[in-house]
Amino acid sequence: MEQRSRLFDSVVVGGQLLRNRIVLPPLTRSRATDDGVPTRLMEEYYRQRAGAGLVISEGTVIAPQATAYARVPGLYSAEQVAAWRPVVEAAKRDGAVVYAQLWHVGRQSHSSVQPDGLPPKGPSAVPITGYQYRSPIGRIPYEVPRELTTADIAEIVEAYGTAARNAVRAGFDGVELHAANGYLIDQFLNDGSNRRTDRYGGSLENRTRFLHDVIAEMAHYLPAERIGVRLSPSSDWMDAHDSDKRLLYSTVVRQLNGLGLAYLHLVEPEIAGSTTVDRPADSIPTAELAGIFDGVVIVTGGHDQASGERLLADGTADLVGFGRLFIANPDLPHRFLIQAPLEPLRHAGIYGGGPEGYIDYPSLATSGS
Ligand SMILES: Cc1cc2nc3c(=O)[nH]c(=O)nc-3n(C[C@H](O)[C@H](O)[C@H](O)COP(=O)(O)O)c2cc1C
Repeated sequence: MEQRSRLFDSVVVGGQLLRNRIVLPPLTRSRATDDGVPTRLMEEYYRQRAGAGLVISEGTVIAPQATAYARVPGLYSAEQVAAWRPVVEAAKRDGAVVYAQLWHVGRQSHSSVQPDGLPPKGPSAVPITGYQYRSPIGRIPYEVPRELTTADIAEIVEAYGTAARNAVRAGFDGVELHAANGYLIDQFLNDGSNRRTDRYGGSLENRTRFLHDVIAEMAHYLPAERIGVRLSPSSDWMDAHDSDKRLLYSTVVRQLNGLGLAYLHLVEPEIAGSTTVDRPADSIPTAELAGIFDGVVIVTGGHDQASGERLLADGTADLVGFGRLFIANPDLPHRFLIQAPLEPLRHAGIYGGGPEGYIDYPSLATSGS
């Protein structure tokens, strides 16, 4: 029997009404300028994908030191804020609510892209050894990161606040804090990368302190109900190792209850960064963590229309993100609605380059099919 689609039910997130439960999740595409300034190409890309109920920007760095790769946009300069405005407007053209994903990569960066030419900083001097850095000349080992001082930490927390303020100025409705995929906040959470002995390391209370400092700082510039948090609780991608992930992430989710956040965004266990892998042995069922959270839950990772509907029907998720499907199908919600076939993802042009593989995927309305 045909089930009623829930993906097209409206939902309230952060006090705003979304006309569907389809999310464009954060997708780095490396089409900003070398200075991290958004481009006209990005405007077109987001305009094409404006059918989502919620559009989350690609990872957007809070400071020049926060990046790992070229042509990732930022939200730390006036020029960037001004250039984001038309992009955000384009994403809102059909009524989507638009959030900026705020990003600091920590030890996943490299001296070649650091402003001072020195190795990046992280919670502790523990390098990533299970993976290699994607440099312009090929894969090279990660460096031993420099340990952040408490003054450095205070500076980064402040930069998150400034970036949140800038996001509001650029027209974003809210921000998503990137606390997933082994980036800086996740590096503080996991005891494999956080060996600190000060108030930012050791106990769970201490390892989660940085996350809470950042949320509190951002909440000076926009209401907590406009702040979402993204976690990848089961992923050990980029050496995100912890001695007890279930305890760690269930604690984090419990702590987030009561802050009145916009949403919790959970990445499914079979996702390693941007690819699908086998579920890690110690993976935590998404439904288990979603069940702990009091507010709106977004789930992303490996889903299609049918599995997305199931997540909504069984109550695991309130909204569902579709990453790779949205890259290849700019009019994904429309295709879901009319049960149209989907375009396959092409490898060329995923990261960097020009329009090819970026804004040249057809929409049904424009392709005339
Ligand atoms: C090209 C590409 C870029 C991505 N960039 C980001 C990013 O900037 N921030 C982030 O949190 N996740 C990023 N992801 C992960 C996606 O948000 C999503 O979790 C992942 O693709 C799994 O969902 P899917 O199976 O629907 O594609 C990226 C994924 C891809 C394929």
